[in-house]
Amino acid sequence: MAPTLRDVADDNDIRIGAAAAADPIREDFQYRDALREYNAVTAENAMKIGPLRPDEHTYDFEDGDLIAEFAREHDMYFRGHTLVWHNQLPEWLVPFQYTDRELRRLLEDHVRTVAGRYAGDVDTWDVVNEAVADDGGLRETPWLRAFGEEYLDKAFGWAHQSAPEADLFYNDYGADGINDKSDEIYELVSGMLDRGVPIDGVGLQLHALHDPVDPDSVAENIERFKDLGLAVEITEMDVAYTAEDPPEDHLTVQADYYREIVEKANEAGCDTIVAWGVSDQHSWIPHFDDTLTEDPLLLDDSYDRKPAYDAIVDLLS
Ligand code: GLA
Repeated sequence: MAPTLRDVADDNDIRIGAAAAADPIREDFQYRDALREYNAVTAENAMKIGPLRPDEHTYDFEDGDLIAEFAREHDMYFRGHTLVWHNQLPEWLVPFQYTDRELRRLLEDHVRTVAGRYAGDVDTWDVVNEAVADDGGLRETPWLRAFGEEYLDKAFGWAHQSAPEADLFYNDYGADGINDKSDEIYELVSGMLDRGVPIDGVGLQLHALHDPVDPDSVAENIERFKDLGLAVEITEMDVAYTAEDPPEDHLTVQADYYREIVEKANEAGCDTIVAWGVSDQHSWIPHFDDTLTEDPLLLDDSYDRKPAYDAIVDLLS
């Protein structure tokens, strides 16, 4: 039997992971087996504010705990995702009935409680997700409104106090290569470092949709963040093409792309690459955009290895 991703990743001291959900871990032994082929796992939704908070006064940690336990049992690197975001907020929080002061209290309590709960379990937190707007500046979110710009610094500070061992990341999409958005994130995190904010790294989501970003540009981007003294991880990778006009033999093209990203990112100093789902069966892509090919991940609908999986194994063997 050919080695698993986990075998070769462990040998190379790197991490190849997948985002995972609690229900299929509970219900599907094939999913559990497939997840064990990776040496890293991210909580796909279970640790977002909405799923964690059925009402203002309650935390429901059941799903998060289950994924944390799976990671612990199987000695996997565990990414917590995400303490502060503007999406997947609980219904009771929108539309807004809260004063700025109440929102500030609510977010602080949330970050401290959740980071504290998983202290020792979560190796790395995406503390803040997607705070930069696509057209520049900080995104208009409830958190920006309630705190002003200092919500990022504060969130990292609370997370650090509650989970001092965890690495703390800023995570975003569309900023994988060198472009205006990644320039802006570069400025943002440089400022945080200057102010002594406890930030350890930057997550590049790398949803390579329609037109995959140039791997050399990703490598260059990784290098500049590394030069600031930050770690860089690829946190949500998937690769999907325009369904109407995909490249010929798109699974092979996809495999080459995965391979090139893993190779160049690793050379640039990125030791963690996480795919956004365990298998094509669990990808968010078909729900998100039906103009894309529906097979963006490393294992297919039946949990069989795809050319992309084999390409990474081959690269790392
Ligand atoms: C963003 C978020 C993820 C996930 C994906 C799509 O990238 O960071 O948590 O929601 O969108 O599913």
